[in-house]
Amino acid sequence: MGLSIIILAAGRGSRMKSSLPKVLHKIAGKELINHVRDTALELLPKEVIITISHEAENVRTTSFIENVKYAYQKQQLGTGDAVKSAMNEVSNSSNYVLILYGDTPLIKASTLQELYSETVKSQSLITLFGFNTSNPSGYGRLVTKDNIVERIVESKDATPEELNINICNSGIMLVETNLLRKLLSQITNTNAQGEYYLTDIVKLAKDQNINSFYFLIDEAEVQGVNSRYQLSIAENIYQERLRNKFMDEGVTLIDPKTVTFSYDTIIANDVTIYPHVVFGKKVTIETNVEIKSFSHIEGAYIKSNTIIGPFARIRPDTTIEENAVIGNFVEIKNSNIGTATKINHLSYIGDTDIGIKSNIGAGVITCNYDGFKKSKTIIGDEVFVGSNSALLAPLTIESNSIIAAGSIINKDIPQNSIAISRADLKILKDKANNFRSKNLKKNE
Ligand code: UD1
Ligand code: CA
Repeated sequence: MGLSIIILAAGRGSRMKSSLPKVLHKIAGKELINHVRDTALELLPKEVIITISHEAENVRTTSFIENVKYAYQKQQLGTGDAVKSAMNEVSNSSNYVLILYGDTPLIKASTLQELYSETVKSQSLITLFGFNTSNPSGYGRLVTKDNIVERIVESKDATPEELNINICNSGIMLVETNLLRKLLSQITNTNAQGEYYLTDIVKLAKDQNINSFYFLIDEAEVQGVNSRYQLSIAENIYQERLRNKFMDEGVTLIDPKTVTFSYDTIIANDVTIYPHVVFGKKVTIETNVEIKSFSHIEGAYIKSNTIIGPFARIRPDTTIEENAVIGNFVEIKNSNIGTATKINHLSYIGDTDIGIKSNIGAGVITCNYDGFKKSKTIIGDEVFVGSNSALLAPLTIESNSIIAAGSIINKDIPQNSIAISRADLKILKDKANNFRSKNLKKNE
């Protein structure tokens, strides 16, 4: 297809009040610019060009991927200037240029595909997306007549009557390539912001008897991110999409709005997720798993028929095998938990491999860090570790062994052994009352 896509991402984003460029802020764990980039690539265009500024080299490094080209905008003189800076990278054989904004991350590939197909079919030279919203502040308005856009007026330049127009500009525009080149060279910066507005090409085209057409689109797809508040709105819309997708795929969410996913979360059907669960990046959950309330899971592969939580924290590089149980206040990091192994309460398991059918008692801690380096703990099959034991890594506990409660284990334990390390228990018979009366007198 003769489609080139330009993504504008050189703006300062001053309303975010951040040291990070706006387009590197995230929704569902993925940078705004990468949401737009991935949507653009779904259309299989000739090329994707991202416009960035010299000051924000991290936008390039973060969004870099094969098939993406970059154009530098020397000074942030407005969206028209930004598109102009990218035009050198647009191939001569390109028929249309689609302009997307790095700060408008929720647009769907299917919607853009429709815009493209309709535009090509109708041989229109400029088409754009407008939307209705109850909160139009900050958006440009489409001045329309009979389905044709005559011009776009930015809110800062608008008269009170124009501010009453209820069709806003999404920023997304599809323009025939040669016409775009020509119109860009005619834009001026005589407006309230002293910027070269891309939106001015509509009026310029109209003056040359070229009509611009628009489609109305759901507000949710074109939510712009200019402030932290709008970032939170965009996050909510995206989370809502993920929740609906998972429910459609057979996942039970008991209270959907309290569950937060990552853009890359993978969950099989017949998983039940209780209220207030957070998924970080890179989580896969197989079928028939229950994730109970207040669990936080990232970088984990959780196999079928396991129970996680409530209040479990599963950290990166962890695999939980089938039928395992991870209970409340258990933290697991960089570990493999074997089939049907149980870690039910109040444990820290880090840098550890545990075999099958082992039982880790309440309060067991793998002491994986000596203040200088991390070390590994290996626990075999059917091992029983009694409550409140401290396992000093590096350490191997072989299969079928039993560790007595309260032990500090600092030597490898051979298989089928009982290990016990604790001070001898003293029992002072008939001494309790004596002890009490002595202490009562003292306090008189
Ligand atoms: C823009 C539109 C407005 C529309 C709104 C939709 C213009 C003039 N206005 O306004 O009609 O309703 O988007 O969200 O186009 N950028 C650059 N270089 C620049 C300036 C901006 O790359 O010199 C990039 C920004 O990084 C951003 C995008 O262009 O991704 C939009 O810029 P922004 O300043 O946010 O425009 P809005 O005021 O939101
Ligand atoms: Ca914007």
